[in-house]
Amino acid sequence: MEILIILGARKNGNTYHTSFAMIQAMKKLGQVNAEFLFLRDYNLKFCLGCRTCFDEGESSCPRKDDVLSIVENIKRADGVIFASPVYISDVSGEMKTLIDRMAHLTHRPAFFEKCSFIITTAHSAGNKHARDTLGAATFAWGFHHVGSLGLKIPTVKGPPDLKKDHKQIKKAAKKLFTAIDRQQFRSPSLLSLAVFKVQQSANSDPTDRGTLDYAYWADSGFSNPKQKFFFDTNTNWMKKILASLMGRIILNFYS
Ligand SMILES: Cc1cc2nc3c(=O)[nH]c(=O)nc-3n(C[C@H](O)[C@H](O)[C@H](O)COP(=O)(O)O)c2cc1C
Repeated sequence: MEILIILGARKNGNTYHTSFAMIQAMKKLGQVNAEFLFLRDYNLKFCLGCRTCFDEGESSCPRKDDVLSIVENIKRADGVIFASPVYISDVSGEMKTLIDRMAHLTHRPAFFEKCSFIITTAHSAGNKHARDTLGAATFAWGFHHVGSLGLKIPTVKGPPDLKKDHKQIKKAAKKLFTAIDRQQFRSPSLLSLAVFKVQQSANSDPTDRGTLDYAYWADSGFSNPKQKFFFDTNTNWMKKILASLMGRIILNFYS
């Protein structure tokens, strides 16, 4: 399996060593090819807030940099680990910039056949908040979110001592490996199914005909009301009915 690790860290410190240890543990479970992508090595500019990516397409973005090549890397992976140090209770600036620059994928999700995992490291507090930031983004991009690992590691010079975290890292590795190996994305969560119904309805509004989002959903067949998700799932009928119901409740709440 192909694993891409996207790192928002500026140095090969706690976050890198935690990700590396997780990959080593995954390699003990089977064939794993891992690529570490440090955002610090990429030309990644701030979002201008112009909405061009939403309205005209991501290739029309006035920012000419490496973001689309990062997206291409994601497309080649079976699983993606998003790893960030905690900076003032949130992800690093590099990671937040990537999240903003991939905003078009929240309208036109493309990663529903891929698993994601989140790693955050903090000295003492903020892992949960940083994890929630990445969780919201990866969910909106369509990933099958497998889990997260938030470690408290003292700030040290040189490699951290991860002995006390070994069990947790091994557990995380097994979780992600199994999810990919068993293609668990084929059984999306109830929330994913319900949100799909909400997005399907929002992107089938005839008044939006002519927009890029409308065309994406229609051309991919996702707008077809018979479609319960982006692809045929292994989901049982009971969960499908519940998801449709939940979707309708959410829609009524927001309309
Ligand atoms: C600018 C900055 C902000 C930080 N903010 C927090 C924080 O809010 N909470 C915390 O527990 N640790 C914080 N830390 C500590 C780092 O999150 C922690 O040392 C992390 O493991 C560093 O990862 P790295 O070695 O991969 O860079 C901060 C460190 C820096 C440099």
